Amino acid sequence: MKVNGQAYRTIWVNENGWAVDIIDQTVLPHEWKIVTLETPDDAARAIKDMLVRGAPLIGATAAYGMALAVREDANDGNLRDTAEMLMAARPTAVNLQWAVEKVRDALLPLPTSERSETAYKMAAQICDDDVEVCSNIGNFGLDLIKEIAARKNGDPVNILTHCNAGWLATVDWGTAIAPIYKAHDAGIKVHVWVDETRPRNQGAHLTSFELAEHGVPHTLIVDNAGGHLMQHGMVDLCFVGTDRTTYTGDVCNKVGTYLKALAAHDNGVPFYVCAPSNSIDWKMQDGLKEIPIEERNGEEVSMIQGVLTDGTVTQVSIKPAATPVRNDAFDVTPRKYITGLITERGICAADAKATCALFPELAPN
Ligand code: MRU
Repeated sequence: MKVNGQAYRTIWVNENGWAVDIIDQTVLPHEWKIVTLETPDDAARAIKDMLVRGAPLIGATAAYGMALAVREDANDGNLRDTAEMLMAARPTAVNLQWAVEKVRDALLPLPTSERSETAYKMAAQICDDDVEVCSNIGNFGLDLIKEIAARKNGDPVNILTHCNAGWLATVDWGTAIAPIYKAHDAGIKVHVWVDETRPRNQGAHLTSFELAEHGVPHTLIVDNAGGHLMQHGMVDLCFVGTDRTTYTGDVCNKVGTYLKALAAHDNGVPFYVCAPSNSIDWKMQDGLKEIPIEERNGEEVSMIQGVLTDGTVTQVSIKPAATPVRNDAFDVTPRKYITGLITERGICAADAKATCALFPELAPN
């Protein structure tokens, strides 16, 4: 998507032909900073410290992390150790494990002399595939927006989203925001309610930034406002992303997603999860019991980041020093609250029968 009129992906190979460039998302929207990753440790740190975040982009960065590792040392030991190190960077998004295992398992049978070139090719392919998958999700979601627009006599379709599942969370397009970009580009009137998404405010910082850059009408709201807007008929549908969805349809996404799904259910607002097949965990059945939930640094809760009038990005504390905090980064929305999963192959019910029918080659035996 475009920033300042220039088209960007979120990750690309540096002009030197081997290092990897990313956009530092920790300083957006106040600063535009490109960071170059030169080692697998750089890639792991970028994932852990959230310079890159969002399930698909974490996977793509880890794939390039594997390529950077093999460029330094293509032996089996380094390949296996780097894979473990990258997979430990963040626990919840299944795309990380998916991408690392895919690259590792393809390289191990190859002679060491062929591994580096193959790893770079695979990482590039993972990125290209992600763009295509997200574009397809956008097209299927667009059909839903079109249906609602047809009933609204020219009034905008109001869509609520949580966290950032836009192009910044993927390689391009996004998952939950892809249908919105497609609708806006097709001349359909849309308006997005952007949950700020405490504690890190990915909605305020990132989703608002992307929508503003692309010219999509949007309004930032506090996380607690969504239910109220739904009660007053001001939300037509919800689109969210996912970090891991069990093949049975339980969805793990940024903390607060569950409460939005409950409010949507109570108010008859359709609640769709945009889920690429590589965000689906084809081994897990019970999201609440099985999905590992990342617990992050308490400072994300006790501090808020913003910009001073002189342009300096800073953090301020919002609580008494002695008050303890807890910071669960994700929650699980049970399948019964989900209207449908929007995948790259179409929209299906959030249940095992439907996901397995759409992706028979991935379904468990
Ligand atoms: O902690 P984050 O910012 O990586 O969490 C991101 C989300 O929860 C997104 O909604 C999810 O990764 C889907 S991204 C297409």
